[in-house]
Amino acid sequence: MFKPVTAETPQQQIDTLRAELVHHEHLYYVLDDPQITDAQYDKLMNRLKALEAEHPDLVTPDSPTQRVGGKVKEGFAKVAHSRPMLSLDNVNNEAELRAWADRVTGSLHPNDVLEFTCEYKLDGLSLALQYAGGALQTGVTRGDGSVGEDVTANVRTMRSVPLSVSTDKRKAAGLPADFEVRGEVVMPQTSFLKLNEERERAGQSPAANPRNAAAGTIRTVEPSVVAQRRLDYYAYFLLKDGEFLLPTQSETLAALAAAGFRTNPHARTVGTVDEVLAFVGKAEAQRDALGYEIDGVVIKVNAVSQQRRLGFTGKAPRWAVAYKFPARGAVTQLLDVLFQVGRTGKLTPVAALAPVGIGGITVARATLHNPDEIARLGVRIGDFVAVERGGDVIPKITEVVDDAEHPRGTRDIVFPTRCPKCKEPVLREEGEIDFRCVNASCPARLSEELLHFASRGVMNIEGLGEAMVAQLLGHPINDPVSLPADDLPAADNTEQTAEEPTRAALVHTVADLYSLSKETRCELKFPPSEAEQAKAAKEGKVASARRLGEKRGTLLYEQIQRSKQSPLYRVLLGLGIRHVGERTAQDLAGSFGSMDAIMAADAEALVQAEGIGPIVAQTIYDFFQLEKNRALIEALRKAGLQFTAEKKTIGDTLAGLTFVLTGTLPTLTRDEAKEWIEAAGGKVSGTVSKKTSHVVAGEEAGSKLDKARELGVSVLDEAALLQLLG
Ligand code: IVH
Repeated sequence: MFKPVTAETPQQQIDTLRAELVHHEHLYYVLDDPQITDAQYDKLMNRLKALEAEHPDLVTPDSPTQRVGGKVKEGFAKVAHSRPMLSLDNVNNEAELRAWADRVTGSLHPNDVLEFTCEYKLDGLSLALQYAGGALQTGVTRGDGSVGEDVTANVRTMRSVPLSVSTDKRKAAGLPADFEVRGEVVMPQTSFLKLNEERERAGQSPAANPRNAAAGTIRTVEPSVVAQRRLDYYAYFLLKDGEFLLPTQSETLAALAAAGFRTNPHARTVGTVDEVLAFVGKAEAQRDALGYEIDGVVIKVNAVSQQRRLGFTGKAPRWAVAYKFPARGAVTQLLDVLFQVGRTGKLTPVAALAPVGIGGITVARATLHNPDEIARLGVRIGDFVAVERGGDVIPKITEVVDDAEHPRGTRDIVFPTRCPKCKEPVLREEGEIDFRCVNASCPARLSEELLHFASRGVMNIEGLGEAMVAQLLGHPINDPVSLPADDLPAADNTEQTAEEPTRAALVHTVADLYSLSKETRCELKFPPSEAEQAKAAKEGKVASARRLGEKRGTLLYEQIQRSKQSPLYRVLLGLGIRHVGERTAQDLAGSFGSMDAIMAADAEALVQAEGIGPIVAQTIYDFFQLEKNRALIEALRKAGLQFTAEKKTIGDTLAGLTFVLTGTLPTLTRDEAKEWIEAAGGKVSGTVSKKTSHVVAGEEAGSKLDKARELGVSVLDEAALLQLLG
């Protein structure tokens, strides 16, 4: 067959394709100005992939084909920053801004010409990128400001982050081969909405705001998942060996853009505070039309020489400040108060509002938290209220508006005496703020129990979120319910909303999850999503419910089976005992070693355990006395969950002894030392008391060592501990 003769070597063809792809990625992801279609882009990419497959020796880490594929470094390795990543002090109004500018002027020389660079304050998370030889080496989150987490594999998937900056571009931009970029990762609103729609479909609870979604995405362990969500990176600092490279912030932004980074196009450098204020005003006006969240304006002294003289206070520079926008709000009428029943039976009042647009979103609900909050606000039904939307999707009521235009409401908010879901009595215990439904098998509580049981920090059953739980229970969940009519003081509300199940429930306790089969999915029908409804409506049709697909159904089944391996402390956590959080669950599992031992313990024995106080001990004891709870535990045992704490054991030479660790030991880490002591039957406590058998002290031991000496407790070094361990 005729084969076209090309003068180009494979290397040349690969180089050309890479340059084209990098160029088009830059146009699309950095400049928002695509010049080819997605299909054309895919074609170029596929040609490059094919060539690289034929010539694997020519693959380089900065090839556009290599964005996805790396692995997240073992549990996100900790990396120290070249210099601290600081936060900013805030100003909230003109006067505070002027006061800041006056302080700046006052600290500089009278002849200094002062300029301010104004940038949008992007509502995301900051990220440092290290480049060496022009190639991206690491992407590290801010962390605590000094040490962040290595998220390089995920950062590589973000197409607005160049994998390398060519020598030509570096020359043009004045960049050395090794440099550091700092900037903000944000999730654009469209991709946030898409993500939440997906989460809802998968039965997961939606992210509260784009910032949380971006932060969660960048810490996802699967880079291919990150690659599917659009995250943008806006660069704003350029460093070399921990120092700013260029003499001004405006030159920094220009150089970053010239090097191929995405910078925010709205940044301006101005000479007066009035101009700064004008910039703030414009930014606020544009806020809802940007397609990404901003929560203010960052104002930076432009000259680095002046920045140096101004220096820092604590955690923030004196040379920059954040002008925070006021929360977006509106005034609307409180039409009714509905009640949501939580996992512990707690009733949360939810405001039903006359729908009002705030910052591009229609708000019809707001949280009222608890009876104290209602009393604090002094709010009645019919009142006009000020509603604020912070960064989050769920807004809150800040005050009652009471003026000539806004007459006061007339009906007091009354908490129901019976649960709006199950009609059983509602009680407020002595000294408690909240009202609770007393019915342990209230269907509203069950849905919350299931969600808690399945959540990431507990049994971690992916795919078992709100939508799925609603399906398993056969009725909608989490909808706040209006007061039952017989509970109302006035007869002006006839709405009767106690819920009728639409279908029999498939689960009645968390243990029932383990008797679901793969085929259960055939009984689940999901209502069409809003997008599907809209699409069908366009075609003049009505969208129909979907069955759970085989893939998702199998995945859920497998997740449930896998969760059986979760350690004992997570099972304890999953039981939802009041006051038992992760730490207490770990203490219980660690001290008693098995579910049976915990169940057999009385309150006195429970108090003896590390970290358990008398109230918690009593609650735990009471929990295990209830027949219903014992039955649930037996069902979980039958299902095959972990009922013993897995521990390495090396005998019981230290049984009955309590140790306290302090300072840095020469060879063992604190955790290792703890593990060894526990493996030998000993206990490790955090505080020194008379009950302490030995304090193990290393270098720079502090107050615990002093306390040990004071109480005459024996003090060991690591060698002595190892000897004890044999
Ligand atoms: S400068 C030392 N510039 O705001 C200066 N920060 O409240 C600190 N942020 O941690 C960073 N947009 O995550 C800077 N244009 C911008 C910013 C920005 C958003 C975030 C950043 C920082 C936080 C400080």
